[in-house]
Amino acid sequence: MAFPESFLQELCDRNDIAEVVSSYVRLTKRSGANLFGLCPFHSEKTPSFSVSQDKQIYHCFGCGKGGGVINFIMEIENLSYPDAVRHLARRAGLAIPEEERDENHSKRERMLEINRQAARFFYDRLRSEEGQTARDYIERREISPSMVKTFGLGFAPDSWDSLCNYLMKKGCTKPELLSAGLARASKKGDGGIYDTFRNRLMFPVIDVRGSVIGFSGRILDDGEPKYMNSPETLVFNKSRNLFALNLAKKSKKGYIILSEGNIDVVALHQAGFDCAVASLGTSLTPEQARLISRYTREVVIAYDGDTAGQKAAQRGIDILEKLDVKVRVLRLEGAKDPDDYIKKFGKAAFENLLAQSENHIEYRLLELSSKHNLETDEGRVSFLKDAAELIARLSGAVEREVYAHKAGDMAKVSGEAVLSEVVRFRKRLIAEARKKRDRQVQSPVKIVQPKERSLRFENTHSAVAERGLICLLYYEPSLFNKLEVKGEDFSSPILGRLFDELKLRAGRGLGLSLSLLAESFSNEEISLLTDIVQQPQELSNAEKALSDYINIIKTEKLARQQKDSSHGDELLAVRDEMLRRKRYGG
Ligand code: GTP
Ligand code: MN
Repeated sequence: MAFPESFLQELCDRNDIAEVVSSYVRLTKRSGANLFGLCPFHSEKTPSFSVSQDKQIYHCFGCGKGGGVINFIMEIENLSYPDAVRHLARRAGLAIPEEERDENHSKRERMLEINRQAARFFYDRLRSEEGQTARDYIERREISPSMVKTFGLGFAPDSWDSLCNYLMKKGCTKPELLSAGLARASKKGDGGIYDTFRNRLMFPVIDVRGSVIGFSGRILDDGEPKYMNSPETLVFNKSRNLFALNLAKKSKKGYIILSEGNIDVVALHQAGFDCAVASLGTSLTPEQARLISRYTREVVIAYDGDTAGQKAAQRGIDILEKLDVKVRVLRLEGAKDPDDYIKKFGKAAFENLLAQSENHIEYRLLELSSKHNLETDEGRVSFLKDAAELIARLSGAVEREVYAHKAGDMAKVSGEAVLSEVVRFRKRLIAEARKKRDRQVQSPVKIVQPKERSLRFENTHSAVAERGLICLLYYEPSLFNKLEVKGEDFSSPILGRLFDELKLRAGRGLGLSLSLLAESFSNEEISLLTDIVQQPQELSNAEKALSDYINIIKTEKLARQQKDSSHGDELLAVRDEMLRRKRYGG
């Protein structure tokens, strides 16, 4: 085991789950002992994410995720088990005991170190003689020296091997350079490698913790491809990171500007909008949106003015809105992108644009109006129906009133008429939401298949009993002192493994808290266990339940063996023998 048990126990004691979760999720107390909030792992509008301070677990009825404080950090920060432990140790000011370094951890650290050295190399090359072409380009794009420094811009020389040679002299191996995405294998298949980035302006991609995780290289002319990005590596995942979020997270602006291009981001920062970020050559992903929502409740989308940009903006709105992030969209009239806009009209004009930017409702109403023909009665009716539905979802009454009137103006009908339609829609929405919540409250008792496909139960009858046993063991380990049940009798392999591990720990007097199991099981598996212990049963009847469960499990096991085996007769004999023993108490 990498970390000593006593250390882990203290780590969990010092990182109260409610406190840790609170820095990511707004938790409120509803009835009962649990805290509730909007689940950070899936999109939802009514809270189904609960935190129990007594049990020190979290659990989402919606997506099924759950676990202890370590799993929570693994999931939300996208960290491995040892990294999550380190994160929590740092948070609680605990010293990490001498540990055997996890192999992947040291690989990651090594790759980050190589990336850091590569960034350093590019940075120095930009200042060298051969960096002249890149310096000219920077000047042509009017990027200031202070931005070059802030972003750590660099230059990848026009050569096949300068980075590789440099890093190999520093002790990097070929496989290391290849896996970091900084080199590619030669097509000749002679084991040779060459630099991935050549003759490009280099933008290091730095994550929120300040590590260089990859690079984005822009060509210095109109050639193709315009950008080259690091491939996915152990440390670089395009869909989970944003360019310049390391800088924007420190901004005092209170909102984040989401643009498309690296150059746009640099231009925006240069103009004083230090809250600009860009997705890394993809349209905004749900993971990126969640990342943003950790730092702000308001996003201004400043995508390119072309159709592709506007389509991407629409998708971005949908994703962000689900996370309860307020979205505004800029229309860059007379310019192709934010960089172009600021160059043409100046930063004051951009500031203006921000101030009067359409919020997303206005933007959506406009979009809707262009989908319907407002010249015809039919078109106006269908427009108003869609508009009323949109407005009904707004949480503020004043907001609903304002936009109802706006929609009325657009379709040339009275605002009052629109508003009454809005009210009707809203009643329906509320009724639907209530019904859904009631269903959620009633349903947890029945067996739910795990979300993770590979963990699904083949035999639900037996699985109910297996879950029941695990739950009993978790709350009443003493019942199992002299009991001969093994995980291998279970129909579900994962339930069997969970059972064995809990039993082993209970036998050794070790804690059973979920966080302590995080090392031995995947997050999905821990989620499953959380789901089980989240639904504690009546313990007064525990002994009877115990024998019922064991009976079911054994009978089902026999049936299974009988089906599997061609020696049915032998098994029947065994079954008879069991029945006999049961009858006569053998
Ligand atoms: P300028 O044209 O110089 O203003 O570039 P820009 O930095 O504003 O980028 P642009 O708006 O053209 O592209 C947006 C983003 O898409 C870039 O930052 C890249 O991440 C990505 N991208 C653009 N072109 C390519 C390409 O050819 N290949 C890849 N992989 N990504 C690209
Ligand atoms: Mn651009």
